[in-house]
Amino acid sequence: MDRLHAIQLLMRQKKLKNYAEIGVFNGHIFFRIKSFFKIAIDPDFAFTKARILVKIILNPFNLFNQYFKKTSDAFFENDAKSVFGDKKIDIALVDGMHEFAFSTRDVEHILERLNENGVIIMHDCNPLTPEAACSFKEWQNRNFSGTWNGDVWKTILYLQCCRADLDVFVLDCDHGLGVVTKSKGHHQQTSSFNYSKQEIDQLTYNDFNANRVAYLNLKSADYFYDYFHLKR
Ligand SMILES: C[S@@+](CC[C@H](N)C(=O)[O-])C[C@H]1O[C@@H](n2cnc3c(N)ncnc32)[C@H](O)[C@@H]1O
Repeated sequence: MDRLHAIQLLMRQKKLKNYAEIGVFNGHIFFRIKSFFKIAIDPDFAFTKARILVKIILNPFNLFNQYFKKTSDAFFENDAKSVFGDKKIDIALVDGMHEFAFSTRDVEHILERLNENGVIIMHDCNPLTPEAACSFKEWQNRNFSGTWNGDVWKTILYLQCCRADLDVFVLDCDHGLGVVTKSKGHHQQTSSFNYSKQEIDQLTYNDFNANRVAYLNLKSADYFYDYFHLKR
């Protein structure tokens, strides 16, 4: 299971359509999605007009893509209202700036526009080393080398602690795939933590490593099929 497979399964079997991706990079995922309503948000897209053309030929749905070359904060501040109108988001991939404050704002902004049966997939929720979990500044100081998941894990813990209206868990695959939905009432939230946002902000990688399964509500990839009642 990886993020592309998870998104495609949900789109096909749950008839989810309207798609938004925060942090698109070269469009490895974005260009493969089949939907007439696709929103790409990234201040630094890593593709040319020629690549877009090729992608339209390979997947004609790309003709309808909407690109926003800006930060997600700027998008939600200036564009979201007119772009979405009455439309809701069915499925979103949150994969932009991998720092707690940013990933939390991204999820909260998407939630404001998420359909009742909509799904947010978050990439990079399960860093395996302190180096992978470092700040953007530290990653920049090592010339952007090595895996960087940042502290997106704190957003998962925050949602578990402070948003009882949501179901939140992380699949143990593809750097930790966070899954966030409006609560369906049949999902067991395992977290008994009661941290505030400020307390979560102070937690370290060692805290995380000692409580990984509980902080993330970590599940095997198979749980994805069970939770959404998907055919294999
Ligand atoms: C890991 S890449 C995304 C990969 C892509 N989602 C995929 O699955 O192939 C992260 C992207 O987030 C973008 N990014 C960084 N800060 C951002 C922000 N504040 N808002 C939106 N995107 C941001 C970067 O420019 C980069 O292209």
